[in-house]
Amino acid sequence: MTAAPSSAAAPAAPITVPVALAERSYHIRIGRGLLAGAGAAIAGLAPGARAAIVTDENLAGLHAPALEASLAAAGIAATRLTIPPGEASKSYARFAALCDGLLAAKIERNDLVIALGGGVVGDLSGFAAAVLRRGVRFVQIPTSLLAQVDSSVGGKTGINSPHGKNLVGAFHQPALVLCDTALLDTLSEREFAAGYAEVVKYGLIDDAGFFDWCEANWRRVRAGGPERDHAVATSCRAKAAIVARDEREDGDRALLNLGHTFAHALERLTGYDSARLVHGEAVAIGLSLAFRFSQALELCPGQDAGRVAAHLAACGLPTRLQDVPGGTGDADAIVEAMTQDKKVRRGALTFILARGIGRSFIAPGIPAETVRDFIARELAGA
Ligand code: GLY
Repeated sequence: MTAAPSSAAAPAAPITVPVALAERSYHIRIGRGLLAGAGAAIAGLAPGARAAIVTDENLAGLHAPALEASLAAAGIAATRLTIPPGEASKSYARFAALCDGLLAAKIERNDLVIALGGGVVGDLSGFAAAVLRRGVRFVQIPTSLLAQVDSSVGGKTGINSPHGKNLVGAFHQPALVLCDTALLDTLSEREFAAGYAEVVKYGLIDDAGFFDWCEANWRRVRAGGPERDHAVATSCRAKAAIVARDEREDGDRALLNLGHTFAHALERLTGYDSARLVHGEAVAIGLSLAFRFSQALELCPGQDAGRVAAHLAACGLPTRLQDVPGGTGDADAIVEAMTQDKKVRRGALTFILARGIGRSFIAPGIPAETVRDFIARELAGA
């Protein structure tokens, strides 16, 4: 995803997206420079509360001082807890150390945990907040595009087990999400593009107009003008709508897994090695495969499948199994990796398929043999 020159335009007014979940409702605030006002926003949420900021070693120097200054200006006493960056921090050991760190910092029931970071920081600290003293409130300040448009919204928190990713966790909704889109200026091209795959996903699920908009505006989203705020807000609005009607993934929330059954298998087969494949890159391949699979099943026009892959590739994302550095193994290995996914029920594979761009649906009971044949054709380049 090649960056266009940074926008010199004045920051647009912040956008507020409500997440309607009865007594667990909250707001997502989106805009450039929101970190400076975080203290005031948080003070309004929990007058008199203390805060623990959880962040990672890379972000501690980059963004934590600005947050601490903002909290101090609002009269909020804060402690900083730092974890090593990377997926390995979503472990039992790190979770226990974080809970003990929060207790040592004397975080009480009425206090706040603030997650300042990407998906790892949000998932780990959200889970700690869910169980600490049987639940304390937490605020998400996501610093990656992926976290701003996906993981910080919707209340999924958790850690990994030797049995798989995110298998130990809780639904614990944040009290507030602050998406400062200026924080994304420091992301690498690769990390930005990976998060952008999740933005495109919302258009593919049920908003063909947004996909058209993405095709026309992705360079401006990267550049950081009002289009970036619009992309984040549209994504959060789409996710909020789905979460509001199916918080615990008993139905429609599964649509958010478009491309993810393939993606999770590829991440597993590459050993969760971010040097080879990061989650958003796996999702980009998964989205492309989901549309080509839908085409192969004669559900989706080939033209739509072609547009999906062409847009993701234009943004610098991988779209084919052959794009995975070091390879993926054969079709049997990929299907085997898919059947270990927690979304597999009684041996049948559930996919999110599409009748076209913006027309995705949940398709349970897809025979493994059908999937295997499709993957074998993909690997053969057919
Ligand atoms: N990332 C998928 C979900 O939140 O349900």
